[in-house]
Amino acid sequence: MKSVHQDHRALRHRTAAALAASAFVVLAVSAPTSFAAEPAPAEQKPLPMATVDALNKLSGGPHAGFRANHAKGVLVAGTFTPAKGAAAFSKAPHFAKSVPVLVRFSNATGVPNLPDADPNASAHGVAIRFQLPGGANTDIVSISANDFPVATPEEFLGLLQAVAQSGPGVAKPTPIEQFLGSHPAALRFVTTPRPAPDSFGTLAFYGVNAFKFTNAKGVSHYGRYQILPVAGEHALSAADAAKAAPNYLMDELPQRIAKGPVKFRLLAQVANEADNVNDPTAVWPADRKRVELGTIALNSTPKEQVKAQKALLFNPLALQAGIEPSADPVLLARPAAYGVSYGQRAQ
Ligand code: HEM
Repeated sequence: MKSVHQDHRALRHRTAAALAASAFVVLAVSAPTSFAAEPAPAEQKPLPMATVDALNKLSGGPHAGFRANHAKGVLVAGTFTPAKGAAAFSKAPHFAKSVPVLVRFSNATGVPNLPDADPNASAHGVAIRFQLPGGANTDIVSISANDFPVATPEEFLGLLQAVAQSGPGVAKPTPIEQFLGSHPAALRFVTTPRPAPDSFGTLAFYGVNAFKFTNAKGVSHYGRYQILPVAGEHALSAADAAKAAPNYLMDELPQRIAKGPVKFRLLAQVANEADNVNDPTAVWPADRKRVELGTIALNSTPKEQVKAQKALLFNPLALQAGIEPSADPVLLARPAAYGVSYGQRAQ
């Protein structure tokens, strides 16, 4: 296994301009020929394993103990307080009563030492665990982008493989150029500007996948989460991003929290009849109704970061009565891939 320092140097050199803003297009670190040289081609493995393999290849991993994606993160804790109208939207227990939360903010890619201002660190992630009375949990796992590059898990693997096969010297159009040429949502995703945030406390996150929310009267709506910073959205200038310390986001959040609670509003953007609830590339119009679900107030930072982060496995399908998954195939594929990654990093 290469050192993460070597990986990161390689990653810097190989980041294709068209992919510079991409999140899950985690950036070819491995030699383009390495896929062909595999004894068991990734596509012959079950999809979750093949996808984790592809993520590992792109980050120069697997990196022992680290997530195959969103490897670098910071874990903080606080409280979720539901908004007055939240229980009328969903009967899930945390929309009726305050609960403690654990929240992990992260950089994209499986590169554990990726500098926080690196374009490949975005879209950033946030994973929220609501710790319910009686020991149950429910999670939200979101990114700092309002859409996803692909509509199916098979396309996600195809995207990762196209990146891996598109290193220097590969004949044009390269596999990733071909992929982006035939997948407009992926092209939009990787060309959307995503400036480095000022702080995790000033970045907005989106659920991307839809869920069906049902209240105690049995009334249901499809919705997508939005997690919006109360401090407003603020990004670094390109000049400041170039000077930013490698861990500036991870270091700044605990400092900010030490000065006072860092707050986010949790909302659900509600689908209209016409909106596609099963395709995370389909952005719903911004004028859709939004329901305030509550406020997340972050007020402490667990001490044993490495151990605590390693022990956690967030699961976007860890749900409670009142929240059901949509039929979005990307959403439904996530837990199996997360489980494969957890199985590797827990050893
Ligand atoms: C087919 C689609 C996807 C695949 C295969 C995939 C794969 C993965 C894997 C393997 C991990 C590491 C899990 C672990 O070790 O705990 C991960 C983490 C993560 N993913 Fe995904 N992902 C997908 C879609 C998404 C989407 C749609 C979002 C957000 C809207 C997302 C956000 C995240 C975040 C925030 C983390 C870090 C969670 C944490 O802090 O523990 N992923 N993903």
